[in-house]
Amino acid sequence: MNSKVETTLNEQIQKEEYSSRLYLAMAIWCEVNGFPGASSFLYEHADEERMHMLKLVHFVNDRGGKTQLMNVEVPPQEYDSVLDIFTQIKEHEMFITESINNLYGVTVDEKDYTTGNFLQWYITEQVEEESLFNTILDKIKLVGRDKAGMFHIDKELEGMTGGSPAAAE
Ligand SMILES: [Fe+2]
Ligand SMILES: [Fe+2]
Repeated sequence: MNSKVETTLNEQIQKEEYSSRLYLAMAIWCEVNGFPGASSFLYEHADEERMHMLKLVHFVNDRGGKTQLMNVEVPPQEYDSVLDIFTQIKEHEMFITESINNLYGVTVDEKDYTTGNFLQWYITEQVEEESLFNTILDKIKLVGRDKAGMFHIDKELEGMTGGSPAAAE
């Protein structure tokens, strides 16, 4: 495997691992602050990010490379509100999209079309995630500080979880 591509893939693995940890920290905050729906949703999303990481790990290893794990930062653990959390998620997902795009750029420069083709899945996934988080964030902004409105959004987020083991009790 092209070493420049391999290094950049390993950096992306670290970022997906951090995403998973970030959403775990946010899920924990929601759980102890009375937002069970947002919490379930974020626990499940932490699992999804771990799946994104594993998909990259297997790809690197299957293509004759070897995944190098790197240090993963401790994410912030205190948040002001659910609005604060989803605002930060949107920013984080935009950062990840940029990172995937840069990674794709490396595969083009290195003429590694196999990896470029593999990355299409991530490019599509980022479009979906950005759109999902924009929708949620717009709803949260709409209710503002209204407690009843926030209660409904929390219920709605509960309904958006697919019932993965992590989202359950
Ligand atoms: Fe991801
Ligand atoms: Fe994501």
